[in-house]
Amino acid sequence: MVHIPVLLKESIKSLNIKHNGTYIDATYGCGGHTKLILSKLSKYGKIYAIDRDIKTLSKYKILDKRITYINDNFSNLKYFLKNKIGKIDGILFDLGISSFQLENPERGFSYMYNGPLDMRINQNEKVTAYNLLNNINVKKLSYILKTYGEEKYHKKIAFYIKKYILKKKLNSTHDLSNLICSIINKKNKFKHPAKRSFQAIRIFLNQEIKELKKALNISLKLLKLGGIISIISFHSIEDRIIKLFMRKNSSYQNKINSKLPLTEKQINNFCQKKLQLKIIGKIFPKKNEILKNSRSRSAILRIAQKI
Ligand SMILES: C[S@@+](CC[C@H](N)C(=O)[O-])C[C@H]1O[C@@H](n2cnc3c(N)ncnc32)[C@H](O)[C@@H]1O
Repeated sequence: MVHIPVLLKESIKSLNIKHNGTYIDATYGCGGHTKLILSKLSKYGKIYAIDRDIKTLSKYKILDKRITYINDNFSNLKYFLKNKIGKIDGILFDLGISSFQLENPERGFSYMYNGPLDMRINQNEKVTAYNLLNNINVKKLSYILKTYGEEKYHKKIAFYIKKYILKKKLNSTHDLSNLICSIINKKNKFKHPAKRSFQAIRIFLNQEIKELKKALNISLKLLKLGGIISIISFHSIEDRIIKLFMRKNSSYQNKINSKLPLTEKQINNFCQKKLQLKIIGKIFPKKNEILKNSRSRSAILRIAQKI
């Protein structure tokens, strides 16, 4: 259950840490990234470490006067910054869940371990995956599997899950994963047949996409000029959102063909759009890291700077 931080050196280097700076680790987890940031800060530097999961925070908190822990959703950054922090020099997101959460059967995140169908990142939320699957209709479930898991067999899986629930209780992660295996009956030694469905249910249940979109927009307002936003994502749905967010706020959309006279609309757009970000780039894990930590296989780190 040891969580190995992904793209650790690359992500911290990308933040270009200032000794006396103020940073947010929006996804504290087991503290891997925070510890490396700390090692680069003077005694005047500060880190605000956020995690939605109180169990994670309680287990992995380290005592250091420079860290302030915040048990909340990172989309509530605005509230915390308005009240306590002010502008920051950098913010890091390492999205998803940690091995501590994934590999704990009680949390119900993984098809690999048998446990209750829970999947809540914040266990104070009321609705579990069990509640969700019991109360949702086939159409909505199929939509979720398609949208958040990019699952080709979304209609079939949704139909048979609901059919199963009419007759029997779908109580555990193994009930769900065995059912999915029997529905799509596909043997792929690299991808478990239930992988995409588990991902989709978790993302929807925890509203991960909505939270990410909100947090990105707020982050932009919180960064000082020259401040850096670095985001590690693990699947194409998140990465697409991050890429579009960065493009939308950078010069990318504002390139205007200089040979043509501008229309009035273009002139207005051009005047209104204040460029806020400079895209620094994206980094993938090296082969070495992937060999040591298979979880890093799908990671992408995107970096941008407030201008
Ligand atoms: C991949 S782990 C981070 C691991 C961490 N960087 C490390 O090296 O130990 C992601 C963490 O973000 C937390 N998390 C996920 N969504 C969140 C959200 N919307 N707000 C706050 N924390 C969130 C999870 O509970 C989890 O602990």
